[in-house]
Amino acid sequence: MAALTLVSGSVGLITLQNPPVNALSAAVRQGIVDTVQKALSNPQVKAVVICGQNGVFCAGADIKEFSKPMSGPHVVPMIDAIEVANKPVVAAIEGSALGGGLELALGCHYRISQSKAQLGLPEVLLGLLPAAGGTQRLPRLIGVPAALDLITTGRYVTAAEALKLGMVDQVTDKNTVEAAIKFALSVVGQSLESRRISTLPCPCPADMDALFERVMQRVKQSARGAMAPVACVQAVQAAATLPYAQGIQRERELMDTLFTSGQARALQYCFFSQRVVSRWSMPNGARWDNSKPKHVSKVAVIGLGTMGRGITVALALAGLSVVAVETQQQQMMAGQSAVSGMLARAAQKRGVPSVKHQVHYSVELEAVADVELVIEAVFEDLGLKKQIFKRLSSVCKTDTLLCSNTSALDIDELASQTHRPELVVGMHFFAPAHLMKLLEVVYGPRSAPQAVATVMKLGKRIGKVSVAVGNCRGFVSNRMLKLYAEQAVFLVEEGASPEMVDHTLEKFGFPMGLFRMSDLSGLDVGWKVRKAEGLVEPGQMSRVRQGRRYCPLGDLLCEQGRFGQKTGRGWYLYEPAGSREARPDPWLQSFLEEYRARQGLVPRRIDSQEVLERCLYSLINEGFNILQEGIAAGPEDIDMIYVFGFSFPRHRGGPMFYASQVGLSRVLQRLEHYQQQHPDVPYLQPSSLLRRLVSSGSPPIQKWKEVMRTPHSAL
Ligand code: 3HC
Ligand code: NAI
Repeated sequence: MAALTLVSGSVGLITLQNPPVNALSAAVRQGIVDTVQKALSNPQVKAVVICGQNGVFCAGADIKEFSKPMSGPHVVPMIDAIEVANKPVVAAIEGSALGGGLELALGCHYRISQSKAQLGLPEVLLGLLPAAGGTQRLPRLIGVPAALDLITTGRYVTAAEALKLGMVDQVTDKNTVEAAIKFALSVVGQSLESRRISTLPCPCPADMDALFERVMQRVKQSARGAMAPVACVQAVQAAATLPYAQGIQRERELMDTLFTSGQARALQYCFFSQRVVSRWSMPNGARWDNSKPKHVSKVAVIGLGTMGRGITVALALAGLSVVAVETQQQQMMAGQSAVSGMLARAAQKRGVPSVKHQVHYSVELEAVADVELVIEAVFEDLGLKKQIFKRLSSVCKTDTLLCSNTSALDIDELASQTHRPELVVGMHFFAPAHLMKLLEVVYGPRSAPQAVATVMKLGKRIGKVSVAVGNCRGFVSNRMLKLYAEQAVFLVEEGASPEMVDHTLEKFGFPMGLFRMSDLSGLDVGWKVRKAEGLVEPGQMSRVRQGRRYCPLGDLLCEQGRFGQKTGRGWYLYEPAGSREARPDPWLQSFLEEYRARQGLVPRRIDSQEVLERCLYSLINEGFNILQEGIAAGPEDIDMIYVFGFSFPRHRGGPMFYASQVGLSRVLQRLEHYQQQHPDVPYLQPSSLLRRLVSSGSPPIQKWKEVMRTPHSAL
């Protein structure tokens, strides 16, 4: 787990060995303690170099061990023992030095980094803080403001930035271990006093108190209820105000609170779930990652509207050649200029000169004849999409993958328009498509595993978290969202205000409540969908449509031209014109009062518990139905869709993980309660999978699949 060899006659080379990322498991920590002791007590060894095998220094603590009882040496004394050594110890950083890996390097007297390495303290993203001395050593090395930035955000820095910040002593393009050995030999015999970071004073700015106050305020605001970023600030404050021994004690205390918290469990669940979803298998057992993905280098995008533009940018930024087809001349011009602008801004943000991207524009569908994959992003109109798929099937090569960005329509129906339905897959991007991380990959009953594999790989290549799901109306994302949004409108109908509903959801951790989100994306979007479903009856107030409860409030607002932010009015008021600040609208309040009076509804006082439970539990309940139907392979898939597609607070793990933390029997009991109160809302009826899980003793989320797989009667 850590091997010691003597190199260049007098350098003890310690190599961490724990593939794939040399995480600091108990065995690795024991290996480090033993090899360091051996090297220091060997008179032949004049200096020590620590490196990791297979081109990775160390990605930190072994996260898999967090759920097990602690064993092996503690990391803080292990690193302290390196720092007090009287022979120079040099870290040779290749690949990654993250979390405990970087903290280990900070305990060394010198750090040499490969130019392509990434360094960082991402513990905050796992609900923790850098508790191997990182919160105490980093501010002493690079100063308080820079350390606060890295520790509270968990962002990785390149070797070049690390050198600029003073985190590393040298960056090399050559063999890093050889460079570190050479460097170690050059410093043998030099004093190590100034190299022991924990003994150095913490360089503090003059306005330190004000700085911490400012940072704490900012961090609390952006943390949306997450505890770890706040604890990170407190730990750095300890470094700035206390000697190392007391500071490290404070670091330990803060870590103890975080380590056992539900938030840390949720964030670590997200870390592993993100990796689990990329290894998805179909319900029939076919695994996309066993199918060899096809090579894709040229892609077509059909339709240069809101989505087509973002998709084009995402593809071009990843170095793919893109053919964008748009039939409307005006849209083509607007689209071209929007794409160029987005590409230029992206280049500016990355600090690179504008790269020549391969984007070609055409008004003819025939221009896509030689591409390997097509992404259709025209209006959400089944008839139009069917026509396009039929034409694509004739125009494209016989092995071209045909994908649709539809947000809800039947992928199988599109597939049936083509000669090769096995090559049809849904690629559901989220707006803005070049920025949002989620890609919902929808496979129909006839989609070939290789087609899904190709799309999943393409998603990864363009930087998305791809989640594969089965075909159903709205897929996982919008099918669940519909019920959650509908519940919010019912609450307003019954007496809540949009502000109160939004405030409750934002306090829970969503960056934006449902009504603000709806105003942002445009109320007319849902109105069009409801019209197509035959639900809209202009001017009508009836509250039952197609045999179930219906709230026409959204339709009535659209009929008044209130489409949200873009028209300056929606559920909120946006004044002056163009403002993005949502202000409560007195007009809406009177409109709601009048509406309720006309409906004979007596407004109730609704508290935040009811808002949260009805909105979230209807979302969760539909998640169980989706699992039961095999539309999502596991709860992780649903959770990643909500975390990456809808900013569900990550520190709550996603809706299904949240349900497991609340307790499944509690969720069931509250759903039954609301169902009794509102028997006209069909989806408040608890899912039979939820009932089965509760009657199986509410197993932990990792074991749900066992219950999902057990045969059950539909009766
Ligand atoms: N512990 C355990 N397993 C880890 C790990 C870690 N720290 N880091 C990565 N892995 C595993 C992954 O789960 C994955 O396993 P799988 O193949 O079974 O799914 C495998 O290593 C490869 O990881 P990726 O798929 O993420 O590979 P990439 O090449 O895309 O990324 C990476 C590599 C940049 C190292 C990325 O994995 C990463 O960011 N890891 C997390 C690093 C981290 O958060 N470290 C902090 C740990 S907490 C800590 O150190 C506490 C300390 O203060 C005491
Ligand atoms: P949009 O209305 O902004 O753009 C559609 C574009 O398609 C228009 O520019 C139109 O001229 C073009 N078009 C129509 N017929 C065409 C044809 N035959 N050939 C080439 N171009 C044609 O629509 P938007 O919002 O970009 O949506 C596109 C698709 O993406 C829809 O299926 C929608 O449901 C889906 N979607 C939309 C999201 C959103 O937030 N807007 C999010 C996720 C999916």
